[in-house]
Amino acid sequence: MKNIRKQFLYTLMMISYGLFSACSTQENPREVIDFNLDWKFSLGDFPEATEPDFDDTAWRSLELPHDWSIEGSFSEQHPTTPEGGALPAGKGWYRKAFTVPKTYEQKEVWIEFDGVYSNSEVWINGHYLGKRPNGYIGFKYDLSPYLTYGDSTNLIAVKVDNEDQPNSRWYTGSGIYRNVRMVAANKLHVDHWGTFVTTPEINDQHAKVSLAVQLKNASVAEEEYTLVSIILNSEEKEVARQESSGQVKAGQVEQVEHSLEVENAKLWRVEDPYLYTVISEVYQNGKKKDVYSTPLGIRYFEFDPEKGFSLNGVQKKILGVCLHHDLGALGAAVNKRAIQRQLEILKEMGVNAIRTAHNPPASELLELCDEMGFIVQDEAFDVWKKRKAKEDYHKDWDEWHQRDLQDMIKRDRNHPSIMMWSIGNEIREQFDSTGLVITRALANIVKELDTTRPVTAALTENEPEKNFIYQSGALDLLGFNYKHEAYSDFPETYPGESIIASESMSALATRGFYQMPSDSVMRWPIAHDIPLVTGNDEFSVSAYDHVSAYWGSTHEETWKTIKALDHMAGLFVWTGFDYLGEPIPYPYPARSSYFGIVDLAGFPKDAYYMYQSEWTDKPVLHIYPHWNWQDGELVDVWAYYSQADEVELFLNGKSIGVEKKRGDDLHVMWRVPYQKGTLKAVSKKDGKVVLEKEIHTAAEAYQIQTVADRNELSADGKDLSFITVEVKDQEGNLVPYADHLIEFEITGPGRIVGVDNGYQASLESFKAPFRKAFHGKCLVIIQSERTSGAIHLVAKSEGLKSGDVTLKVN
Ligand code: GAL
Repeated sequence: MKNIRKQFLYTLMMISYGLFSACSTQENPREVIDFNLDWKFSLGDFPEATEPDFDDTAWRSLELPHDWSIEGSFSEQHPTTPEGGALPAGKGWYRKAFTVPKTYEQKEVWIEFDGVYSNSEVWINGHYLGKRPNGYIGFKYDLSPYLTYGDSTNLIAVKVDNEDQPNSRWYTGSGIYRNVRMVAANKLHVDHWGTFVTTPEINDQHAKVSLAVQLKNASVAEEEYTLVSIILNSEEKEVARQESSGQVKAGQVEQVEHSLEVENAKLWRVEDPYLYTVISEVYQNGKKKDVYSTPLGIRYFEFDPEKGFSLNGVQKKILGVCLHHDLGALGAAVNKRAIQRQLEILKEMGVNAIRTAHNPPASELLELCDEMGFIVQDEAFDVWKKRKAKEDYHKDWDEWHQRDLQDMIKRDRNHPSIMMWSIGNEIREQFDSTGLVITRALANIVKELDTTRPVTAALTENEPEKNFIYQSGALDLLGFNYKHEAYSDFPETYPGESIIASESMSALATRGFYQMPSDSVMRWPIAHDIPLVTGNDEFSVSAYDHVSAYWGSTHEETWKTIKALDHMAGLFVWTGFDYLGEPIPYPYPARSSYFGIVDLAGFPKDAYYMYQSEWTDKPVLHIYPHWNWQDGELVDVWAYYSQADEVELFLNGKSIGVEKKRGDDLHVMWRVPYQKGTLKAVSKKDGKVVLEKEIHTAAEAYQIQTVADRNELSADGKDLSFITVEVKDQEGNLVPYADHLIEFEITGPGRIVGVDNGYQASLESFKAPFRKAFHGKCLVIIQSERTSGAIHLVAKSEGLKSGDVTLKVN
């Protein structure tokens, strides 16, 4: 029997997605109503719109989640600035009329918003419910006291005020951009975010599961209850049960604690994220009053100053990326399939962890990380009391930080994927003594709600005596952003501390654009040694891995360092995907970032394959760039490969040479005098061919090809198909310089909800039914409607053979 890990043993929790996932196998007295449909919306300010009889007939009808910024046109003049995405913000109002059945009179009814950016204020039937400045945190309001029941109409009004700008260093979006639901529960029920599950003991025989349930009695008399806790395995078979009874006083919340055991527990692993479910059933006089479900993943983990990170006793490097919350052409409007696609692309590359830079993410991201096997660093803040942008969260700090941080922990602490709480990114208070007090206070807030995960922060000051967040002694895990030259000294500089590279690289690239020579590294903006690109490729950055911000490094530089150092728990690359805003190194019209390993449209840049060759076990062979150059030009050909000893390159059948990685090399390179034709690479292990890859010189653009990531969609009005549109020659080779304007025509039960091409300085609308190709590619995103049938999309451009695709909607 293994030792039961005591100290610093971070155990599993479970999730209260609660409201989304009432147990499907049992009848549930709790009703959870999707509240996203049939809203009215108008930009501008309408103080009278709080009143039920306000006339909103001229307002636009829409469905949530909704982000009005992404619908706007780019302009350098927008107060959001290019750093915020150069899109409009301002004020907007939402209203929704609805009825509730008579039976709800006996119930407790509330509304839940997962996130509104920002400064939302809510009214029901003219009654003010409250304000929430922070745009990234979920909140609820009780509606029961103000509702009318039966046939008469209720009116909810939401004001969103994102006018004071700039309030962020990246694109935020504007509006009710996350999901909204209404919940009707019996008076006796499990409270909002009302469960907390931990696994205080895990060994070979069993796992102990501790469950704390907040039972709320919203009635006017004391009530008897019986609480039954049931653990189901992933086949929905019961594996543990406990029951207890008691009373809850009128209007009170009572905490009930259960302790269960799961025999031969199957552990949650990145490779096999096994999930149990805890069902909390509440009974009163033998009648079922509520059912609440909390996902449970059983795992333990440890950060060790010498050995780094381990999960379930197995040492494992955290191979993470930072992600901002926007979904490219969809803006900030949450869509679970869009998040899932991002995670699928990252999983394929070998990523095993996500840092939610620099705010609490949508709950859907956390659910997917639980289900798909990603380790999460959940981050609360980008600023504390001292500002980074003129109108940012520092203004709300005093009044709101405690509540916001508490709510993040309560909302998220049941997700097994979360293994770190970050209380801040590059916080300015690290540089002076005010950092001491705030750090301790924030760490205490976290610890009062969860002691099973380390509190960390992403620091930049790496001289210990000058870093007051470190000096506070309140961090369990030190996060350092960049500073890769210092990692090897950390065990001496920070004796006894566990350390993670909370943010790394900030390498820059534009998909499909290459500058030679590729073997000299360029740092932006020191002495402008990056020649800013003009002409056809204006506002582009070379996609060889040889450009980075001066505070960072190329992808290879930092990865080589971390790979070699056991004491580094892992890293989070800045960033997995390009995101809207922060278009370093270019001025407007650049309006989205160059840092992504994957571009804004979801097309991998070349560095993706370096990671894949290092972070996965699959054989990889990727050669680049394309093969359309000027005769005689010297072209640098790079190859990333794995599961092989060497690669041989051939041009038109003639060997250019065999190359193999030496020392800590992560790629090989040939400098080849260009000649049109076929470039072929062959990787070999022990003399046997592992993989072959060919690139051909593309002839003239001839046709459009379309490939859907999914050909079947659910008729739920939410599902998406991401369609890659490519300009090819007659033989089917991608035309690397093609920039044709592609127009889309759609019929059937679907609509175009976004277009993109990954070009960071494109000023085309993300919502138009057309897009220019960029380096031969663009993307169109189709959303299903609520009827089944066949969607047909045609992609056409003058002078090219059209492409088309058919999607089934069921
Ligand atoms: C970091 C910061 C990130 C992003 C990045 C760009 O310092 O934490 O939010 O701005 O730089 O390189």
